[in-house]
Amino acid sequence: SRISTADLVADARASGVGVAALNVIQLEHAEAIVDAATSLSRPVILQLSENALTFHGSPEPIVAACRAIADAAQVPVALHLDHATSIELCLDAARLGFDSIMIDASAQSWDENLRITSEVVRICEPQGLWVEAEIGEVGGKSAHTPGARTDPGEAERFVALTGVNGLAIAIGSQHAMRDRSATIDRQLLTRIRQQVAVPLVLHGSSGLSDTEILAAIEGGITKVNVGTQLNIALTGAVRMTLDADELLFEPRRYLGNGRRAMKELAAELIELIHPSTNQ
Ligand code: G3H
Ligand code: ZN
Repeated sequence: SRISTADLVADARASGVGVAALNVIQLEHAEAIVDAATSLSRPVILQLSENALTFHGSPEPIVAACRAIADAAQVPVALHLDHATSIELCLDAARLGFDSIMIDASAQSWDENLRITSEVVRICEPQGLWVEAEIGEVGGKSAHTPGARTDPGEAERFVALTGVNGLAIAIGSQHAMRDRSATIDRQLLTRIRQQVAVPLVLHGSSGLSDTEILAAIEGGITKVNVGTQLNIALTGAVRMTLDADELLFEPRRYLGNGRRAMKELAAELIELIHPSTNQ
């Protein structure tokens, strides 16, 4: 069934758990993620980045597929537009069927980020969308300064001035890491948490160990974004399947193995980020 990102995030925060927001590139990702959530009876956020939509050429088919999977799911599923740099795409998000969006103007100047984010909030919030923005530049994207951190005072002012519903913060994680060796700045997270009232979002969580992810949730992170680890699992399984049989041409064989690998990993992540609360 569908749930709004706003409700899902609010529920998680009230229960002191996180929400796994897992990135979809193709249909198999969405199937694997929802399958994993269903096996655990936990809610999940499916998120599609602007880059993923660009890969498909047009957003409609893949978004419609994710909507169909979310609607049919036995657990609550929300659909989020991730890392949108285009205001036009954000303005189209409600029509496409997203529950929430991230306007990512974090590579811009403070003034530009403020202006763009405010405009998106002004137009998209009345359409029922939960709006996330970023301040401080989470590393690993080419336009970003490595090692950049979110300043707590700036975060507080940014939220007050834009009216944004959720905030992505830079506290040490980096996008697209192959290993899980990053560490989060726990003191900085505590200070941001004390000064910012809206739910906090952690990007680049693939680069964090289980211990770091748990510390982040403990420290006040609610939405935990993971993408790269799923793709490592998918590609590893596909590569192994193809390497094992040079004559294999049946996509259901290698994509099936890739999807199974993603499901197993997604289940581990969902269990870690959102442990069962009724025990
Ligand atoms: O917005 C998506 C996430 O930040 C994913 O980052 O691919 O490094 O896990 P990741
Ligand atoms: Zn991200």
